[in-house]
Amino acid sequence: MMLKPVRTLQPGRAELREDTVSALQGLKAICPPLSTFYLFFVIFVLSTIFHCHRRLSLVPAPWASSALVVLSPRHLPREGMFTINVRGRLGNQMGEYATLFALARMNGRLAFIPASMHSTLAPIFRISLPVLHSDTARRIPWQKYHLNDWMEERYRHIPGHYVRFTGYPCSWTFYHHLRPEILKEFTLHDHVREEAQAFLRGLRVNGSQPSTFVGVHVRRGDYVHVMPKVWKGVVADRGYLEKALDMFRARYSSPVFVVTSDDMSWCRKSIVASRGDVAFAGNGLQGSPAKDIALLMQCNHTVITLGTFGIWAAYLTGGDTVYLANFTQPSSPFHKVFKPEAAYLPEWVGIAADLEQPNRGAPGHASARAPKSHQRTLL
Ligand SMILES: *[C@@H]1O[C@H](CO)[C@@H](O)[C@H](O)[C@H]1NC(C)=O
Ligand SMILES: *[C@@H]1O[C@H](CO)[C@@H](O)[C@H](O)[C@H]1NC(C)=O
Ligand SMILES: *[C@@H]1O[C@H](CO)[C@@H](O)[C@H](O)[C@H]1NC(C)=O
Repeated sequence: MMLKPVRTLQPGRAELREDTVSALQGLKAICPPLSTFYLFFVIFVLSTIFHCHRRLSLVPAPWASSALVVLSPRHLPREGMFTINVRGRLGNQMGEYATLFALARMNGRLAFIPASMHSTLAPIFRISLPVLHSDTARRIPWQKYHLNDWMEERYRHIPGHYVRFTGYPCSWTFYHHLRPEILKEFTLHDHVREEAQAFLRGLRVNGSQPSTFVGVHVRRGDYVHVMPKVWKGVVADRGYLEKALDMFRARYSSPVFVVTSDDMSWCRKSIVASRGDVAFAGNGLQGSPAKDIALLMQCNHTVITLGTFGIWAAYLTGGDTVYLANFTQPSSPFHKVFKPEAAYLPEWVGIAADLEQPNRGAPGHASARAPKSHQRTLL
């Protein structure tokens, strides 16, 4: 450990062990006071970190928002505590966070999030739930409790004191009664919001600044393969996006569409931009999930395709929402794990997917042309 060499520490002067001194001789010859100063600064910082780490549960805190939790397993809250497994990416983790938040409140327990969830969410949002350090979490006798992706009556009376939820919950049916608080939890940090606002301020339609911004989220990525192969379904095609955008063109005067996606090159090919009212976020390159959700949230309305990321963007934006409906065959196993009425708010508008024309021309997806191909399933 680097702490050893220090025997005494006086301002501006210090004694070191001989071996350390000789090791530093070269440096000292170049710049004696500076190198000594830096050495002690490094030692001081390292020893502070080292000692703090031993005493506290120090949580890896992204600079944007820190959370420090001091929780010894000997002093667990008597009323019990809930936590949740971290599964998936941003949208999934937002669903897990909000569900944990709501179920803990309903059951009168304290909620703690794992450190990895904090590192996903805290750089973007002003979340408030405390973090459970993994060293502490390991020593707690958790009971696992599986959640479906919709609220059930039995979740109001969850037995057990130390409960860890599993599953992929992302349904408004868990937390919509707490909507103002959920919106507060997912408030953007100022610098994240400002960056999104700066992008929107730069947009022009017919030479003037638009007053209606419609965020468009096009989820493709692995879904392009998983939807037909596993779930007997389709992803959004260009026909869906045209209909969805036209609904907003009919309802608002000169809206601008801000497109975000995990597949921007498909969007550039498939969304007609010749009217001059479509902006591809980040110069058409793939943005980061944090930037994308911030942009969508700063818009007034939302068009989404598939996935929890879009659902969250729409939920937090709170304007008119158009979503891709009925994107799986009636016989799809997807219906066992997904209830549309628990995923989409009743006031959102669904446009039925065209199950017969699954994304012609999508890269690596030639098999979709065969009429029987999406009858196959891996389940
Ligand atoms: C731009 O202005 C022209 C002429 O007024 C109008 O016909 C057109 O619809 C406008 N475009 C958009 C996207 O609002
Ligand atoms: C629409 O969004 C813009 C950009 O965030 C905002 O400045 C404006 O106030 C919003 N309009 C309404 C009616 O909320
Ligand atoms: C989706 O399918 C259900 C059941 O067939 C139907 O009631 C509903 O209207 C459809 N939704 C849309 C948007 O077409």
